[in-house]
Amino acid sequence: MLKIKEINDNENFSLVSNGNIESNNCSHSEKVFEPSGDYEVSTLLERDTEALGHQIAGHSRTGVLKHKLGYVLKPLQKEPLGTREVNFYFKVFGTVPRIEDNDNYATTTPDQDGDQRKRNSNLTLQKYLSKFYGVMRIHSMDEETGNPTWKHYIALEDLVEGFLKPCVVDIKVGAQTWDSLASPKKVAHERSKYIGTKQPIGLSLSGMQYYDLRAKKTSKMEKEFGKTLVVSTFIDTIYEFLNGASDPTIPNYIATKLLPRLKEIQEYFKVQREFCFYSSSLLIGYDAYRFEAQKLLKQNCNWELNDNLGDNTTSSWLRVCMIDFAHVTPMEGTNPGPDTNYQFGLNNLIKIFSELSSSTDIQSSSDSE
Ligand SMILES: Nc1ncnc2c1ncn2[C@@H]1O[C@H](COP(=O)(O)OP(=O)(O)O)[C@@H](O)[C@H]1O
Ligand SMILES: [Mg+2]
Repeated sequence: MLKIKEINDNENFSLVSNGNIESNNCSHSEKVFEPSGDYEVSTLLERDTEALGHQIAGHSRTGVLKHKLGYVLKPLQKEPLGTREVNFYFKVFGTVPRIEDNDNYATTTPDQDGDQRKRNSNLTLQKYLSKFYGVMRIHSMDEETGNPTWKHYIALEDLVEGFLKPCVVDIKVGAQTWDSLASPKKVAHERSKYIGTKQPIGLSLSGMQYYDLRAKKTSKMEKEFGKTLVVSTFIDTIYEFLNGASDPTIPNYIATKLLPRLKEIQEYFKVQREFCFYSSSLLIGYDAYRFEAQKLLKQNCNWELNDNLGDNTTSSWLRVCMIDFAHVTPMEGTNPGPDTNYQFGLNNLIKIFSELSSSTDIQSSSDSE
């Protein structure tokens, strides 16, 4: 069985090195998205919300909320970033479904551009994002002035909705994490962060939490922790996140299940020519309860991970989505190339999970999905 330490020492395991991060192919526009017109803003009551318990990263560390109907409410960032992110969501989703409309985006989203290729590309992209339920506002106190004010939020589906022991990691993708509007000071600041992983493999671990099956408690790592990582400790941390210390077969099992999803996103990036995804993250979540429950059931037996536990679709306990689009820029030019900045990080992440998935001989049977 190849454990994570062996992966680090294995000479054949070489992640693609970026070398020159300025060689990004993404011919981005100097413009931000045009506003997509008026949209409805729903009003929520503050008392129906609470802080999102499993928030692990983000500028607004204390600001992401969970609504009792299930929405994750991400506060709009300072302008122009807030409007850029809202416009991105409207561009991808077109119109906004109600929370109970779960599966029918494809049939309910007219695209304003009227371009078939863009429409198809955005329909594909919807599958990799959390569902978007529009912009909502809450009447609250302004933190600085103490005066009553409206705070605006982007309402999203919670990646780990329904999970009993949620484990979440936020991984920023790409060696370039600034957009064309960034000042030289901002560029210098971005370059100086996550230096051990961002430039070498195009990945930054912004934060994570996981339920440790051995210690039976939840551990949280914040962004300061991610900034200390180098490639080998980044891989160790992913292994730890996947509860490898509790049972080395779990990272293998989860990686095997996660890879097809990551490879779908990889396929999307081979063809998409709409956006340059700067400073955007992949949020990966799994429910550690699944493994705890299996272990309890087979406590005195020689247990082996399998798919035969209750709801056996992978998405009932393992999910991934793209988040954080305040720095996404429209791609421009007559013949734009792919977003090589994002591809660089994503390809390396896939390589890490591929190694984890082939690191033991335990293979899981296919899902019923
Ligand atoms: N759809 C979601 N489901 C669950 N958690 C989310 C979701 N979107 C954001 N979060 C949580 O909020 C954090 C910050 O979100 P993000 O969009 O990255 O904000 P920021 O722009 O402040 O970085 C994420 O790291 C994650 O913990
Ligand atoms: Mg973020």
